[in-house]
Amino acid sequence: MRSSILTLCFAAAVVLGGCSRDAAPAADTAAKSDAVTAPGAEYDSLSYAEPDKVRIRDLALALDVDFNDKQISGSATYDLDWVDPEATELVLDTRDLTIEKVVGERSDGKWVDLKYELADADKLLGSKLSIQAPERNGRIRVTYHTAPQASGLQWLTPAMTEGGKQPFMFSQSQQIHARSWVPLQDTPRVRFTYTAHVTSPKDVMVLMSADNDPKAVRDGDYTFEMPQAIPSYLLAIAAGDLVFKPISDRSGVWAEPAMVDKATAEFADTEKMIEATEAMYGPYRWGRYDILVLPPSFPYGGMENPRITFATPTVIVGDKSLVSLIAHELAHSWAGNLVTFSSPKDQWMNEGITSYVENRIIEALYGKDFANMEAAIAQNELRKTIGDMEPQAQALAIRPDIHVKAGDTLTEVAYDKGAWFMMFLEHRFGREDFDPFLRGYFDHFAFQSIPTTTFVQYAKDNLLAKHPGKVTEAELDEWIYGPGIPESAPVTVSPQFDAVDAVRQAWIDGGALPSTEVTAKWSTQEWLHFLEGMPATLSHDQLAALDAAYAFTGTPNGEIAMRWYPLTVRSGYPEANEAIAEFLERVGRRKLIMPTYAELVKSPAGLAMAETILEKARPGYHPITTGSVESVIAKAKGDDTVVKPVD
Ligand code: BES
Ligand code: ZN
Repeated sequence: MRSSILTLCFAAAVVLGGCSRDAAPAADTAAKSDAVTAPGAEYDSLSYAEPDKVRIRDLALALDVDFNDKQISGSATYDLDWVDPEATELVLDTRDLTIEKVVGERSDGKWVDLKYELADADKLLGSKLSIQAPERNGRIRVTYHTAPQASGLQWLTPAMTEGGKQPFMFSQSQQIHARSWVPLQDTPRVRFTYTAHVTSPKDVMVLMSADNDPKAVRDGDYTFEMPQAIPSYLLAIAAGDLVFKPISDRSGVWAEPAMVDKATAEFADTEKMIEATEAMYGPYRWGRYDILVLPPSFPYGGMENPRITFATPTVIVGDKSLVSLIAHELAHSWAGNLVTFSSPKDQWMNEGITSYVENRIIEALYGKDFANMEAAIAQNELRKTIGDMEPQAQALAIRPDIHVKAGDTLTEVAYDKGAWFMMFLEHRFGREDFDPFLRGYFDHFAFQSIPTTTFVQYAKDNLLAKHPGKVTEAELDEWIYGPGIPESAPVTVSPQFDAVDAVRQAWIDGGALPSTEVTAKWSTQEWLHFLEGMPATLSHDQLAALDAAYAFTGTPNGEIAMRWYPLTVRSGYPEANEAIAEFLERVGRRKLIMPTYAELVKSPAGLAMAETILEKARPGYHPITTGSVESVIAKAKGDDTVVKPVD
């Protein structure tokens, strides 16, 4: 339900209101030039785009995927809505792109060259591309190619794939990496439809966040259409030795041939999840819902690319115990993809509401006890970590009159405090009123990008005012803008976890470890809770006893590994080191590996080990993962000059 390591380049400092719009973000070249828009209009410090002047309505891509040069090349044609009658310039976000040509369509249908300027690159934001369009052209086309190190793409050689025959490539556009493979107004405030014509080597299947055809013939020539308007961070592409296996009429799995049966079995409940969500929140509006299983280097658990969730293979553990990841990404089809946050300050609306819906889906499929275990894991972790954060970072959102410098945070606060806030509302209003409210919210703002203030107003009008006496405006305000966890947070009770607490404590007090008769019935979640509740360090004998009884070292379950290995490093248990190295080299999902890296770098020997592992793992890591690991290592060495790129 949550993710601890999703940190968007955290710049703690905030710049207070007033003329703060002029205050330069952390990287000052990022200062925006657009005039102050309507009061409350959200300022996106992560984009150069000026959507109040001109907006992309439709994007037509013509691209070639070249594995030899690790390059995507071609053109992007934009249908534009000139919003401001004075505007004659289109500003796009780019990162490491080579711009070859820019043309605009004149009113007589002729395409003519347009003047453009590509600014020097800002480390966080990339290069601003300013295109002069004195005729306010209805269509503009940019011809370009990507760099091999494009931050939003990963290129894998055949040897790095499961099958070893075809190369593999995939995108990860959220948060601001779409600009590294397509010049765009890379801000969630702008939504556009798109089409694409993509060529690739003949044996490779290409998929996009669009109308993928399960029966598509592999011929190296593919066309796509996405008729629903999406924000740039949902633009996605993948290419590789991918085959399809259906789950239902509208749902299925794309994966490498060696993986597809296992993955389809693990995700067999997907159709039931879609139906459960529809029953609560209205129709699934995107047509197909497929899942693409990526190689283990995928830096995230999942990414809610419309019509095709991109997923890590690390959740395929054989017992469906980690499928809440699918529930989460599916839930984004309502919270996020349908109703989208409009600036980086509002991410809780995507991730928090989604995490709540995820838990409701899990409850509908697997029962309240299981859903409560998942909620309790998230809430316990939030309680552990929130106190160490800057007060501003403990809030779900930042007041509209406060501007954060450059990056914003995306921590478990957005996910778990966000979900908890929704549970609080559910608890006070009851499902009979809260469920229709949330459904109404998704309907009302469908295909729009909105800020937190709009959510708040909608909640005041449709929940607080309609059902007076249940929640005060002050409580709403505290949940959204206040630090910490409000007193009003409903307590999640889990008898299963109480039982785990009891046997763990008995062992710590000198008793025996729980017998395999007891633990045989445990789900992954109970194991996670068992480990989470351990003291910060254990003795060598205690760790050896745990390993002897349960074989944690070398576990194939990444969720267990991410909790066990930091404990062994902190406590001094070198027996785990070999398995740690193997795990960190094989897996690139940051949530799973960063806690162990963070623990390793605390001692000189561990730091050396982390550096050796990184060098071995580097060719197989995604640029996002490499960036995170490098930054942790650099910080441990006292080198503050390594800027962690925005995720
Ligand atoms: N949309 C996020 C992933 C994301 C967020 C990428 C921000 C880049 C910037 C996705 O839905 C997500 O939350 N993934 C989680 C899954 C988990 C919470 C079930 C992850 O990857 O850990
Ligand atoms: Zn999410």
